[in-house]
Amino acid sequence: MQGLEVRGLTKRFGGLTVSEDIDFDLVPGDRKALIGPNGAGKSTFSNLVTGILRPSAGTIRFDGMDIGRLSEAQRVKRGIAKTFQITTLFRDLTVRENLALTILERQGRGYQMLRRAGRHADTGAEVAALIDQFKLEALADTRVADLAYGQQRLVELAMTLALKPRVLILDEPAAGVPSSETHLIIDAIEALPPELAVLIIEHDMDLVFRVARQIIVLVQGRILTEGTPQEIATNAQVRELYLGGHGHD
Ligand SMILES: Nc1ncnc2c1ncn2[C@@H]1O[C@H](COP(=O)(O)OP(=O)(O)O)[C@@H](O)[C@H]1O
Ligand SMILES: [Mg+2]
Repeated sequence: MQGLEVRGLTKRFGGLTVSEDIDFDLVPGDRKALIGPNGAGKSTFSNLVTGILRPSAGTIRFDGMDIGRLSEAQRVKRGIAKTFQITTLFRDLTVRENLALTILERQGRGYQMLRRAGRHADTGAEVAALIDQFKLEALADTRVADLAYGQQRLVELAMTLALKPRVLILDEPAAGVPSSETHLIIDAIEALPPELAVLIIEHDMDLVFRVARQIIVLVQGRILTEGTPQEIATNAQVRELYLGGHGHD
């Protein structure tokens, strides 16, 4: 099978079971969202998939291969990327320079060309394509430190894409972004390459219902239910969860 295939995934911290017997598939073209109350285990799940945490039980396959023992870096190399995990913005460099550095990093050329990165011929065309895709033309030569917060998140998203992932995990892409800027993030998600497999972990329900085609609801480490946005919006248990006075993050 192409993509991610998670079976029976379980994670315990001492006596606390934080992920319990989770089955999950993510194939090319998917736009899935993982939602659930604060403490439901969303971050733990994404950390298990990206290799930050090791499962207590269960399997994680990618393109049919068991990746459960691979390091985080090895999984990134195979094409599993999570935003805001591997990308670090250099605040004193421009958008263009940040993108060029990420491409050099992917190519294993590290930071040796730091000074010239913004002008480097090898990366120029690819940087230009990313700038075009994320509509960053007007900001390309602006220092990241001078961008609005939502624009910085957009640059981080573009940098993650520069790693050419096949699976993209968006970990709260709109967190901290003022509502006047969330449309930037929504537009960017909608403009992602169609064949990319995308999982969005997000508490902003407007964003989730705009961009997800499938929604998975996690409660106390278990999948409560999953379905289309329409099915989730009308699910009585989910409505109780979100309207019944429980906090959600
Ligand atoms: N390293 C850890 N050690 C012990 N408990 C943890 C650890 N990380 C998370 N937890 C617990 O696991 C549960 C799920 O946390 P988390 O995955 O961060 O949830 P969410 O992202 O849905 O808010 C919480 O009860 C949290 O306190
Ligand atoms: Mg979390």
